Amino acid sequence: MPDDILLSVQRPLALPSAFFPTTTPASYSRADFGPDFHWGAACAAYQVEGAWQQQGKGPSIWDEFTRRPKAIARGEHARVSTDFFTRYEQDLDLAQSLGLTDFRFSAAWARVLPEGVGAVNRRGLDFYDRLVDACLERDLRPWLTVYHWDLPLALQQRGGWTNRDVVGWLANYAQLLARRLGDRVQHWMVLNEPMVFVGAGHALGIHAPGRRSLPAFLAAAHHATLAQAEGGRALRDTLPGSARIGTTFSCSYVTPARPGHGPSEAATRRVDAVLNRFFTEPVLGMGYPMAELPALGWLLRRYQKPGDVERMKFDFDFWGIQNYTREVVRAAPWLPLLGAALVPAAKRGVPTTEMGWEVYPESVYEMLKQYAAYPGAPELYITESGAALPDYPAGGRVPDAGRVAYYQAAIGQVLRARREGIRVNGYFPWSFTDNFEWAEGYRPRFGLVYVDYDTQERIVKDSGRWYSEFLAGARVEVARTL
Ligand code: FCB
Repeated sequence: MPDDILLSVQRPLALPSAFFPTTTPASYSRADFGPDFHWGAACAAYQVEGAWQQQGKGPSIWDEFTRRPKAIARGEHARVSTDFFTRYEQDLDLAQSLGLTDFRFSAAWARVLPEGVGAVNRRGLDFYDRLVDACLERDLRPWLTVYHWDLPLALQQRGGWTNRDVVGWLANYAQLLARRLGDRVQHWMVLNEPMVFVGAGHALGIHAPGRRSLPAFLAAAHHATLAQAEGGRALRDTLPGSARIGTTFSCSYVTPARPGHGPSEAATRRVDAVLNRFFTEPVLGMGYPMAELPALGWLLRRYQKPGDVERMKFDFDFWGIQNYTREVVRAAPWLPLLGAALVPAAKRGVPTTEMGWEVYPESVYEMLKQYAAYPGAPELYITESGAALPDYPAGGRVPDAGRVAYYQAAIGQVLRARREGIRVNGYFPWSFTDNFEWAEGYRPRFGLVYVDYDTQERIVKDSGRWYSEFLAGARVEVARTL
């Protein structure tokens, strides 16, 4: 094994309690999760499909954003990516051979509706039809995300998420997918991580459409909240009664930099409200978390219309919880609106992944506990969880011991939650194969399966092999050291 493989997993050895939390059950097997637990893996259209101009697909905001100089690390883009559009059968064969029971993917809105609304691109819709059939032929239950960040460019030209019409556009697109695929797809998710595409795309400018504007952020946030619920209603009106309709939330467990210190604790509550509660509480009819964020609440009023609190509600069958890390928060009274700042993991001397995210597997458990505590919370699934580590093929294998340890701990934390009675019924590693990691390009590798981007060769990583053995029933003795 080349020395540098261990680069990112050497530092954790200095802090074994964080990397190997003792709260993780020491040993477990698949049987401990019961026979109905869903074991999948996840991906998203823009990150894997490639074929950006093939068979009538229209341009998306990511096709445009990746063309901007300096927007993406090393000037990379996803015009080819892992070429899932032509290689999906091969990838699904691999997923089946590893023993997965479920497969999560998204549809590219501009592949189905090149202009976002109006004329349907039959060949685009046919692709998802074949993809769904290909999953079912391999006994993989398809989980379809309606919107995973790739808005049609034509809609962006009409204001995109800042235009309230997006609520209707999304509902119309969701309905189109439901009409065509609803006889075979049972699990649907309306949005992928609204806080990320709204925040990174409209406030920070680091994701498409690259806006850095508070009004754009507020408008997009409110319209995403409305679209989330309206999309749910559109699906429910169209799909058979047996369909399971969900949506997904990004989240990070937040802890104060100075526990017990009033301002630090209060700052942590404000960050929690933004990162973890903002899109969830309106769904339950609680409105936005205004008590913690009065200024934001006041500013948001401009975009709200009478009846919106009711419109933002929807009784989802499940929530997809997506967690990678925790955040440590300190008070920063000079910063407007939030008065809080995140203490970067690098400054805290904790183990991190290639994304700079702290390795903190207990975050998965903490977030499940937090979401399950809402009165009226539906069934939960971990629809994303994973780690980017530097992977190198060596002798036909990819030895990624750090990722194996990460999954052992994270899945163990899901079991911990289940043992406490939390209704969490599935786990989807992010990601099935390596893929295009948005602004970070191809360098961060999240896959259970390695992709050689020059040859499109796939190599199952040791983590993929481990997952497969676990799914075949092997008992896991959870790693305590590397
Ligand atoms: C999530 C995204 C997903 C992937 C992972 C690493 O925020 O939903 O597409 O990029 O992060």
